[in-house]
Amino acid sequence: MDIDIFTLFPEWFEWFFTQRHVANVLAGGSRLELVNPREHTPLSAGQVDDTPFGGGAGMVLRVDVLDSALRAHYGVDPVELRERRRVIALAPSGRLLDDALVDELAAEPAVTLLCGRYEGFDERIVEHFASDVVSVGRYVLSGGETAAMVLCDAVLRKLPGALGDERSAQEESFSAALGGDPEYPHYTRPAEYRGWRVPDVLLSGHHERIAAWRRERSRERGAAPDPPAAGG
Ligand SMILES: C[S@@+](CC[C@H](N)C(=O)[O-])C[C@H]1O[C@@H](n2cnc3c(N)ncnc32)[C@H](O)[C@@H]1O
Repeated sequence: MDIDIFTLFPEWFEWFFTQRHVANVLAGGSRLELVNPREHTPLSAGQVDDTPFGGGAGMVLRVDVLDSALRAHYGVDPVELRERRRVIALAPSGRLLDDALVDELAAEPAVTLLCGRYEGFDERIVEHFASDVVSVGRYVLSGGETAAMVLCDAVLRKLPGALGDERSAQEESFSAALGGDPEYPHYTRPAEYRGWRVPDVLLSGHHERIAAWRRERSRERGAAPDPPAAGG
C-alpha cells in the first residue's frame, strides 16, 4: 500500500514510523511518504494560509498552496488525482472512521491524506481535490496529524505482516469473526487478585465452552447501547 500524507508538521510522524507494525509493513514493501505543502508554496516567505473571507478568528489553508503541492508531488492536476487514488481530507465533520471504512481503505492500493491546521481547509480544497472527508471523532483536534496517525495505525495493522501474530487481527472488536460486535473480555494471571476471580470457564480448558462464553460476552457488549462505565 502506498500512503502519502500532506502535512505542515512532518516531524510529528517521527515516532509513528518507529512503531513495530508500521515498520513491519514498510519493510514488507508498503510506502508511507510525508509531503510538506510549505515546500511547494507559490507564495513568498513560505506562506500557506490566509485570513478567512467574511472575517473571524484563525487562518485558513489556501487552495493554491495545496494545488501546487499536489501537482508537484503527482505531476497531474489535483482535480484528476482523486480519480486515480483516494484523496482524504481530514476534518471533524467528515465520515466517521469505523472498522468498515478501515477495511475499505486497507484494500486500496494508494491513499493520500490531507492534514488541516488552524481553522482548516479552504472549502475548495475539499470540493475539488478530495474524494472523501474523514473524521476520527466528533471532537476537534489541533491538526490533522494525529487524525492521520489514527487512520494509518488502524489501516496498516490490517495489512499482511503488520502484526507479530496474524490471528490478533482476525478475531478482534468489530471483525467479521465476532459478527461485528466488540471483543470479549480478556484475563491473565493471577487467576485471583484481591478477591477478584477470573471466570471459571476460562480456567476450565474446555475450548467449546470458552468459545461460547466469549461469543456471548461479545454479543452482550454489542447489544449494550453504550459501553458500560468502568466499574459499572
Ligand atoms: C483546529 S482543526 C479545525 C477545526 C474547524 N475549524 C472546525 O471547527 O471544524 C484543524 C485541523 O485538524 C484536523 N482535525 C481536527 N479534528 C479532527 C477530527 N476529529 N477528525 C479529523 N481531522 C480533524 C482537520 O484536518 C482540521 O482541518
